[in-house]
Amino acid sequence: MSFGTDFGIDDLPVRDELRGKSPYGAPQLDVPVQLNTNENPYPLPEPLVARIAERVAEAARGLNRYPDRDAVELRTELARYLTHTGKHPVAVENVWAANGSNEVLQQLLQTFGGPGRTAIGFEPSYSMHALIARGTGTGWISGPRNEDFTIDVAAAEKAIAEHRPDVVFITSPNNPTGTAVAADTVLAVYEAAQAAGPSMVVVDEAYVEFSHRDSLLPLIEGRPNLVVSRTMSKAFGAAGLRLGYLAAHPAVVDAVQLVRLPYHLSAVTQATALAALEHTDTLLGYVEQLKAERDRLVTELRATGYEVTDSDANFVQFGKFPDTHAAWRRILDRGVLVRDNGVPGWLRVTAGTPEENDAFLDAVRELMKEQER
Ligand SMILES: Cc1ncc(COP(=O)(O)O)c(C=O)c1O
Repeated sequence: MSFGTDFGIDDLPVRDELRGKSPYGAPQLDVPVQLNTNENPYPLPEPLVARIAERVAEAARGLNRYPDRDAVELRTELARYLTHTGKHPVAVENVWAANGSNEVLQQLLQTFGGPGRTAIGFEPSYSMHALIARGTGTGWISGPRNEDFTIDVAAAEKAIAEHRPDVVFITSPNNPTGTAVAADTVLAVYEAAQAAGPSMVVVDEAYVEFSHRDSLLPLIEGRPNLVVSRTMSKAFGAAGLRLGYLAAHPAVVDAVQLVRLPYHLSAVTQATALAALEHTDTLLGYVEQLKAERDRLVTELRATGYEVTDSDANFVQFGKFPDTHAAWRRILDRGVLVRDNGVPGWLRVTAGTPEENDAFLDAVRELMKEQER
């Protein structure tokens, strides 16, 4: 069957709010040094690869059956990990898991957002928050930030009081800026959201393992409308696994089950994630190396004359460029792919291996020399 090229998305009866929109996606270009999607540059260690093969083989023997719908073993191990690293006791009832934290966020918006409801985020931030809002029919409100990309508490409180959103996103450390959010700020936003709502506050901690600060996880205690979302894509070096999770009051875990698809987490995913969790200590060792590389990038970029936003993540925002896209292109011409997130004047580089970071630093030093000429 052949299809004419004169028929496109907009000729289909798609929802009005999807018309004329583009799908999310960073360029996947085949260049030697790819530092644009905040992935962990270290492949999983061989003993873990072998353990995954073992656990997946075991799971394969039962693939004629649906997987554990409630992923109890996996959630128990995630709770153990959170308790161990988050300085706060977390039980299986507090944890829910899905295919990447994107799916966790989608389930939260399906549950607490939706048609006639709104969500707010403080931008620039993770662009998928707004996109998932759109996909779930949730109205999106773009909240403000300070010049230094921290959250302006007074402005946030004002925006929440004015718009009375149903869901409030706080990303800490924030993507693409790298800035972590102080617990006091989260508490002030939570209070404002409860006074205006009550509404759910979702703290997206996708990068928290790379932070200089402690996790905001203990804040869920006594705050049933606060959710912390996490992922195995970054610190666990397992972006291809697609495993995200949340920690919250057990009522939140019950609520998201109203919207989750039955058997959403495959037996293969659950087995792989469980194998990775057995190797937590090794994987967190890589995180320490990446933190040191991240700090080196900050220091070297500043020494080269760039402005750099303080980073608590596995990436660094640097600038400022009069023509951001031209600077992105000049770096790409030197074989290094970084990210233009559409923040005027700023680019973002993910911390890679020491060799990749050296290649990046060489490229931006040359760019600086060019600009000085
Ligand atoms: C802030 C933030 N949250 C969530 C995610 C989604 O991660 P995943 O769906 O791979 O868990 C990302 C990915 O880049 C992110 O930057």
